[in-house]
Amino acid sequence: MTTSCVNKSLFACSLIVLSAFAAAQNSYREPYRPQVHFSPREHWTNDPNGLVLFHGEYHLFFQFNPVGSDWGHMSWGHAISTDLLHWNELPVAIAEKDGEMVFTGSVVIDSKNTSGFCVPGKECLVAIYTGHRQSPQRQTQNVAYSVDDGRTWTRYTGNPVLDLQMADFRDPSVSWDTEERRWRMTVSLPTEHKISFYASPDLKKWTHLSDFGPAGDVDGAWECPDLVRIPVESGPADLWALKVGLNPGAPQGGSGEQYFLGRFDGQRFVASAARGSHGWTNYGKDDYCAISFNGLPQGEKPVLIGWMNNWQYAEQLPTSPWRGQMSLPRRLSLVRDETGLAIKQEPVTAPLRTEHTVIRQTPTGELKSTQESPFELDLQFGQPSEQNFGIRLYTDDQHWTEIGFDRSKREFYMDRTKSGRAITADFLTRTTAPLAESRPYDLKVIVDRSSIEAYAQNGTIAMTNLVFARSDKSRLSLFSQSGKPVAVTGDIWRLRTIWK
Ligand code: FRU
Repeated sequence: MTTSCVNKSLFACSLIVLSAFAAAQNSYREPYRPQVHFSPREHWTNDPNGLVLFHGEYHLFFQFNPVGSDWGHMSWGHAISTDLLHWNELPVAIAEKDGEMVFTGSVVIDSKNTSGFCVPGKECLVAIYTGHRQSPQRQTQNVAYSVDDGRTWTRYTGNPVLDLQMADFRDPSVSWDTEERRWRMTVSLPTEHKISFYASPDLKKWTHLSDFGPAGDVDGAWECPDLVRIPVESGPADLWALKVGLNPGAPQGGSGEQYFLGRFDGQRFVASAARGSHGWTNYGKDDYCAISFNGLPQGEKPVLIGWMNNWQYAEQLPTSPWRGQMSLPRRLSLVRDETGLAIKQEPVTAPLRTEHTVIRQTPTGELKSTQESPFELDLQFGQPSEQNFGIRLYTDDQHWTEIGFDRSKREFYMDRTKSGRAITADFLTRTTAPLAESRPYDLKVIVDRSSIEAYAQNGTIAMTNLVFARSDKSRLSLFSQSGKPVAVTGDIWRLRTIWK
């Protein structure tokens, strides 16, 4: 019997037990609740924070309002996983304190106790985050540490560790620089459209190294930078990607993320002038503030997770009792081919695959009459003869999402204007990405209750969009401009839920 039954009548007690049971049954089963993407049990989340693999656990910290489903009281929520997919939500890691909110940042493994925060002889975790104060607004960089695998955190008494007396100075991304043997911070000056690099021997004293920017797209604030070294699939040297969030003003509308490919020499980042060295990590509307994991084994591809949302309508999402969800984890590599350079993204889904259907050519183009979400669809189209072709996911005869290639417009696109519920006018969109004629016409689509993630052309295009459809079941049908069947091979997998 639950302790809350003490001193209560049998009737009252049975009600308590029954409602607790119902809550447990309902949890992660609400309408629109993602089944393969992380979302908090309840309340608001935005950016992922402090992604780190430590002692066999992947940690996902996230911007979190512990008391409501709107943005506010920003603190770090916390979840852990052993496979990047099944997440176990833990209590709040770092809470708002004395009027200072805990904004986005990162976590590093201090394996040599450079900070002096660890128990001697034992590596520990150190978080570097932006402390945000309102009226007057002031943002500074701060440090907290954990000596119990991220379960509890202590703020450094010498905070802030970096204070430029500025209103906008945020989102530190910190990593160990293996060549320079010191810590490196990549941090944003949002209104100046600059990314600053700093170095430190101990995570407490920081020295300015250089600035990058303004460059590329500067129509909104620059936020959530990340500097990632990415292995090149074919070619000798690795390249660096500097990823910068832009909000508002992204080409798709609202928030988006551009990247610059280039070299980092320990002091400064220099963008390459090669074709393809400036692009968007996601051409959909709903992937923002993605960051990479610290602590991955050497030689492994970087893994990125983003916030699957857009500031244009994030506070209007029709979900309850939570609001906000993360993208799937994606492994990054670089492609260098005749079209130029491109970041390739491969979402992690394989461990969830079940109920496999092999796709065969059909005269009508219909691939499956009913497919329940969540599912993954992998299609390889032959060399196309059609100008416009692709797939429609119908939830009924009047509602569908179209994902396709339009060669005459040189576009890959996703059209969600007829998908279902429109949250705001900004939600009714057809998002596009430049198409490369010489790259393969393939398509991976992951449908999960309220989102569609698409990856095309060998993963060089990622496009993520939220969709609030009327049903969790879709009819999958190919289309082409001429109406003739399109040659295709592929697979459909139903995906297992990550919530047990
Ligand atoms: C981006 C952002 C960050 C900031 C955080 C606050 O979504 O504005 O720049 O640290 O959200 O929640």
